[in-house]
Amino acid sequence: MHALGIDVGGTGIKGGVVELETGRLVSERIRERTPLPATPEAVVEVVARVCERLVEGGWLTPELPAGVGVPVVVKEGISLTAANVDPSWIGAPIETLLRERLQLPVVALNDADAAGLAEVAYGAGKGHPGVTLLLTIGTGIGSALIVDGRLVPNTELGHLQLHGREAETLVSGAARVRRHRGWKRWAREFNAYLALVEAYFWPDLLILGGGVSKEMARYERYLRARAPIVPASMLNTSGIVGAAMAAVAAATPVRAVAQTPPAEAAREVVAETAAETTGAAGSGPDLGGA
Ligand code: BGC
Repeated sequence: MHALGIDVGGTGIKGGVVELETGRLVSERIRERTPLPATPEAVVEVVARVCERLVEGGWLTPELPAGVGVPVVVKEGISLTAANVDPSWIGAPIETLLRERLQLPVVALNDADAAGLAEVAYGAGKGHPGVTLLLTIGTGIGSALIVDGRLVPNTELGHLQLHGREAETLVSGAARVRRHRGWKRWAREFNAYLALVEAYFWPDLLILGGGVSKEMARYERYLRARAPIVPASMLNTSGIVGAAMAAVAAATPVRAVAQTPPAEAAREVVAETAAETTGAAGSGPDLGGA
């Protein structure tokens, strides 16, 4: 089964058609620049452009369900925060805006949640039971908390208070550059953040994603945490793949997945519904207010 996944980031909006059996892209990975200012309306236009390019390439067909990861809290299709994006995201009916513009069944969810779903199903967290926490370290810090395959949505752990400030303003990838921290010093500061996160959530596995995770060889030896720390393994496709997973889960009749964690559900759905039609978006399991 195939679905469209889109990942809205601070600098680029990326999209592709995902094969859910494997978690791989079966299309080109299309990238367009994030518009400035990145208002919901402007972003929706660029998402539409990504879709047009996929249609032009013959990869996107009208009936495919679509998932869109956005760097904000999303509940019931409404975006509720705007930490590193235009303030007009607060209260925007982002899912409706996307659905109307794309004319596809669309589910919107937090970008880190999407990446976490994909890493647990197909990447660095695959086969790890228990509590997995993915932290994406880029412009901000995003988090995805996944317990035995089920996502706890919108955890927003980048905004925990660290030394009296929002943690992402001190130890995100952008903060590292802005504060002129070398890897060793940054890692030590980041350890204080990990200690805070661990004190509350006691994860069994920590996955580091985002731009900083690509450099892990430079600072891995300085990191200290109780849980094992591994880099995300899907690099620049996890956000796309996870968004596609959310789309499939939402487009699936509840009976098929009622007792099943989302990651497994997406895979089961692939098997069960390959020959069926998928029904309307929004009627599926709760992927966490996505
Ligand atoms: C936002 C999160 C987002 C993260 C990564 C944070 O500033 O609050 O919602 O997941 O950045 O994009």
